[in-house]
Amino acid sequence: MVDKKDVLSILSKIKDPELGKDIVTLGFVKSITINGDNVVIDLALTTPACPLRENFINDIKSGVEGNLGVKLDLRMSADVPKGAIVRKEGLSGVKNIVAIASGKGGVGKSTVTLLTAFALTKLGATVGILDGDIYNASIPQMLGRAGSVEVKDGLIQPALVAGIRLISISQFSTSDGAVVWRGPLVAKAIRDFVGSVNWGNLDYLFIDLPPGTGDAPLTAAQDASLTGVVIVSTPQWAALSVALKAADMFRRLKVNIIGIVEDMSYIVCPHCGTRIDLYGEGLVEGKAKELGIDYLGALPMYPDIRKLEDLGFTNAEELNLAEPFINLAKRIAARISVIDISEKIEGPDEKAAATG
Ligand SMILES: Nc1ncnc2c1ncn2[C@@H]1O[C@H](COP(=O)(O)OP(=O)(O)OP(=O)(O)O)[C@@H](O)[C@H]1O
Ligand SMILES: [Mg+2]
Repeated sequence: MVDKKDVLSILSKIKDPELGKDIVTLGFVKSITINGDNVVIDLALTTPACPLRENFINDIKSGVEGNLGVKLDLRMSADVPKGAIVRKEGLSGVKNIVAIASGKGGVGKSTVTLLTAFALTKLGATVGILDGDIYNASIPQMLGRAGSVEVKDGLIQPALVAGIRLISISQFSTSDGAVVWRGPLVAKAIRDFVGSVNWGNLDYLFIDLPPGTGDAPLTAAQDASLTGVVIVSTPQWAALSVALKAADMFRRLKVNIIGIVEDMSYIVCPHCGTRIDLYGEGLVEGKAKELGIDYLGALPMYPDIRKLEDLGFTNAEELNLAEPFINLAKRIAARISVIDISEKIEGPDEKAAATG
């Protein structure tokens, strides 16, 4: 009959390549139950969006069944870690806060925010969006609605729209006109969205930032106890050079750079399926490599996305996400796990130095 030790010895040879440690040391193995030739393993990954999920399943199955001749029942779950950051009231149940930024306007920040949020929700995570674009709240526009908020015990309760908890200036303003506010008011709005909202328990809270390196990104970086920031660029130097300035600002503020994504990277011909790189290939990836920033991948141009976002995803629950968006969400979630776990091991300061 097999022993727990035999199973553990096999599992401790399976490494998470990103974290560089084995799955037993990392605490992924929650329990092992042995009943004759039947072995039950409960395994909790660090995110329901783990890109290595299938690899772990295959390695564990072949390792345990192949070496021990038993029948394995592998039960998978996810337990998203929280880094070492201590968060204030209203945010204490939020495991990760991630800003989506770029110095440049119109490069796809809101699209990346929304579709990453959709993808992670679909994969089983609990997600919120703080719409940090006070002058041009585009998330409610893209969702087709802002939802309504209420105040309970002195804290604002976010709206629930398409399975995502949402706070946006649109919920507090009745006019469609321009918001004419000076910087300090914008900073205050962001601070209130961070400090006076009961976000509840969330695996990921995304902050959709406006372009530039002004009050909104500064306040988010200083007040929102960020896990990190995702930088968005399009494949032209005119956009990338500005996006890198934003990355530099976050780095100086000791915010982890989760990585950089290239949106509107290419189009796929609907007739022959050929990929056309409108602005050449590899600019963002090459620069990311040079600067030691993780390259999170490229998103193609999808005519349907623009149409849906203009009209509002009124039926967002049934949205069929294209593979590049799912892969991007998985890559972001995996990088967040690496940051959280290394933060726990090394402490926040060393981690900021290592990744910033
Ligand atoms: N991959 C894509 N395929 C098709 N359209 C896209 C894609 N990414 C973004 N768009 C479209 O490009 C426009 C700009 O995108 P988005 O609003 O997400 O950019 P942004 O960086 O948030 O802009 P802003 O700086 O104004 O906040 C929108 O109409 C959006 O629908
Ligand atoms: Mg935007």
